[in-house]
Amino acid sequence: MIEIGGGYGYLTRDFLDRNNTLQATMLDVSPCLLQKQRYLLEDHEVNYRQADIMDVDGRELQPFDLAILNENLGDLPTMVNIHRDVFVSRLHDLDQPLQRVRQMFDQYALGLPESELFNLNIGALNVLEKLCHAGIPFIFISEHSCEAEVHEPLRRWIQIQSPGNPERIRLRGHDEYTIRFSYLERIARTFQYKTFRGPLADFIAFDFTDKVRYMMHLESFMKDEHEIIRYFIEDRYPYEYLILMKSI
Ligand SMILES: C[S@@+](CC[C@H](N)C(=O)[O-])C[C@H]1O[C@@H](n2cnc3c(N)ncnc32)[C@H](O)[C@@H]1O
Repeated sequence: MIEIGGGYGYLTRDFLDRNNTLQATMLDVSPCLLQKQRYLLEDHEVNYRQADIMDVDGRELQPFDLAILNENLGDLPTMVNIHRDVFVSRLHDLDQPLQRVRQMFDQYALGLPESELFNLNIGALNVLEKLCHAGIPFIFISEHSCEAEVHEPLRRWIQIQSPGNPERIRLRGHDEYTIRFSYLERIARTFQYKTFRGPLADFIAFDFTDKVRYMMHLESFMKDEHEIIRYFIEDRYPYEYLILMKSI
């Protein structure tokens, strides 16, 4: 397995603790986080690679059976405020990044954006294309989505934004963008992957008790516990997962 952007390494540690026959590689752009991963995973035999996934040659990914990208596609480059003219201009009138945008929409039959100006998770699309092209049989992705929805009857308790257009999230030190998952799905299907998609709530279940209902209605919090639980419950919805399985 390869975990791309593994942060502190907890997720891979859990995998290895459950199955010590797994051979794991951690690929990360950050030397500091790779150091943390080495520390956390010191009891396991793991390969480490410092690299930007955007620059990795897809052929190097071919040996892996499983790739995990948990909460990092939003860190990759996003093109912002692209004008819809990109779809009607003559291809050779467009500069190179916009030609790539056009090529992506044409090649994968991506649905056209609704607004005149739109943002595109070009880094995420390029990386997924690379993973699929390498033919990795299983791929797990999870990230903050711009298309997530809460279904009835929970809508009255949990309200989330679902603008469809990737949105900027300002963080300390860097910005990231929410992900348009439907485009990732299209790319994966073009490469003959079966796709399974949904909110993290699908596998982090909880009982909607009276106490939880009470917390979901609070306008301000008297107790830290209530605030923590409320955000934990709400965050399971805007975060989506996408599991890809290569059809044989
Ligand atoms: C928000 S953290 C997520 C960490 C971990 N996967 C988790 O869920 O807790 C993002 C991780 O992706 C890594 N990362 C960001 N951009 C990257 C890139 N272009 N190539 C490789 N790793 C990258 C960061 O260094 C960091 O380890």
